[in-house]
Amino acid sequence: MPLNTPILSLKGRTVWVVGASAGIGQALAEQALAQGARLIVSGRRAQALAEAFPSESVKHMVFDITERGGAQRVLDALAPEGWLPDLVFWVAGDYKPQPIADFSVDDARQVIETNLLACYDGLRALLNHWLPLAASRAQDASQPKFHLCWFSSVAGYRGLPLALSYSASKAGLNAMAETCFVELKPKGIDVSLVCPGFVKTRLTDGNAFTMPALISAEEAAQATLRGLSRGVFEIHYPKRFTWFMKLLRVLPYRLYFWLVGKTLG
Ligand SMILES: NC(=O)c1ccc[n+]([C@@H]2O[C@H](COP(=O)([O-])OP(=O)(O)OC[C@H]3O[C@@H](n4cnc5c(N)ncnc54)[C@H](OP(=O)(O)O)[C@@H]3O)[C@@H](O)[C@H]2O)c1
Repeated sequence: MPLNTPILSLKGRTVWVVGASAGIGQALAEQALAQGARLIVSGRRAQALAEAFPSESVKHMVFDITERGGAQRVLDALAPEGWLPDLVFWVAGDYKPQPIADFSVDDARQVIETNLLACYDGLRALLNHWLPLAASRAQDASQPKFHLCWFSSVAGYRGLPLALSYSASKAGLNAMAETCFVELKPKGIDVSLVCPGFVKTRLTDGNAFTMPALISAEEAAQATLRGLSRGVFEIHYPKRFTWFMKLLRVLPYRLYFWLVGKTLG
């Protein structure tokens, strides 16, 4: 039995991509549109959203996820128009390489605010709208089940070098997504977690090191949709890299620190 209801097609689904103006979120939104989804796209930059999704059939909801109550405002506007999303990709995230010797507290706080704290704002807003409807929907085969898909990272498996706040924020998000799954499953809401390895986007363009098993945003979007079609909880890719990261996760500290130290040279 799959952990989630497999999503075989996005046709007719109302899909909200938070973080659709660039990178993986944009590629995902493009693929959702191509599959016939009713699409809502969000990000802070209205111009970038307009350029990426010029079709009038796409709803543009510009907001900053770190603004308290921003997600609630968006959903309160969408729901009465019949645009309450039933599938949400919470993709928006921030990353800056942070060598520990000169890390900035402001940067660290911003990364944690964006990658973790803002997720609670989104979750609260979604539950306010979904919970009153979820149980009856889950019984009704003619309506899609609500599904929340969090975008995290393999950097959340263990504390990685140059990722002082990024690893911590994604570790927190991984734990939060597990809690969401356990508590929302009986309420009729599916939850999944995406942990990509390296994907070529503006986020990773600042990395000065060679990124192993680097894939494109389009490949990442395809792998995400494949994972949803299998109904798994955790979607991770590319496997040639993520299985190695999973192995690192189970190593004892002594071995893990030695290996990472060796890699750093
Ligand atoms: N690239 C990778 O190698 C990689 C690997 C593992 C995990 N991930 C995760 O995958 C997700 C997407 O990464 P990406 O590489 O595609 O990044 P990206 O190209 O920088 O795109 C990030 C998206 O998030 C939006 N965003 C960022 N901060 C926001 C805010 N405060 N409010 C609203 N929207 C915001 C951006 O829109 P605006 O700029 O318009 O606001 C943009 O649409 C992130 O969660 C990241 O941590 C990425």
